[in-house]
Amino acid sequence: MAERDRVEGPRIGECARMVAEEGGLRPSVHLVLGSGLATLADRVEGAVHVHFSRLPGFPGTSVEGHEGCFLVGRIAGVPVLVQSGRFHFYEGVGADVVAAPVRVGRAVGAETLVLTNAVGGIRRDLAPGSIMLVDDHISLGFRAPLAGPAADGEERFPDMSAPYDPWLMELAEAAALQAGIPLSRGTYGWVGGPNFETPAEVRALRATGADVVGMSTVPEVIVARAGGQRVLAFSVVTNAAAGLGDGAIDHEEVMAYGEGAGEGLGVLLEGLLPRMAGDGYG
Ligand code: HPA
Repeated sequence: MAERDRVEGPRIGECARMVAEEGGLRPSVHLVLGSGLATLADRVEGAVHVHFSRLPGFPGTSVEGHEGCFLVGRIAGVPVLVQSGRFHFYEGVGADVVAAPVRVGRAVGAETLVLTNAVGGIRRDLAPGSIMLVDDHISLGFRAPLAGPAADGEERFPDMSAPYDPWLMELAEAAALQAGIPLSRGTYGWVGGPNFETPAEVRALRATGADVVGMSTVPEVIVARAGGQRVLAFSVVTNAAAGLGDGAIDHEEVMAYGEGAGEGLGVLLEGLLPRMAGDGYG
């Protein structure tokens, strides 16, 4: 290949070695914190930070409020790899970059991926502040995170008949019940962003079966499933989807709302992680 044709992407093996060496723990759970949920990082005990900007081939994240770093530490005593910030296709990056943090987590030893995200609520009962357990998704972003040659250890045609782990969902519901946090199941509709939807698009999303709408998570779920990881995902409703609320949707407000609602999700996760560890999941 000519020098000018060589495209440098994230070097997963090298990144994983750095995270493992500096972190000094072997976490089997990788937890991704979404927009406005970065305060959950405060719950990580003894956190060692590895910023994305230091990882070979990683670009810095460009979205305000997406700090872009891995933290290795413990939540409620359970060793975890926490990821604050993520890459989205709307930043103009390629499939290899969007998929890279999941692949690094897997290479570090995470068998389970727990994702969190901010969404617009479509289903009537999913008002701002609600937390939804994602039990299925619709991929309407029209971008394939597995485009290109199959990555090492990933299936070319991964099965998607049960992308979200049924047993982990039950554990999450038990943890929510114990913490007194309402948690209902629903379907995540993925759009590419970065613009929010039009009211007509929200009506179309509802007609397709989406209960919430968001711009992340689905590419990561697909990459995780292709690599054989178990997946669990939580959505925090930060606003009513376009046309269903009082007016325009504002990114600043979305972020601010996520921070408040993230508190409940933090409590839920602190209850959930020891249950997962007790069941051999963490
Ligand atoms: N649409 C898409 N993504 C979002 C929204 C929304 O209304 N709110 C938070 N993330």
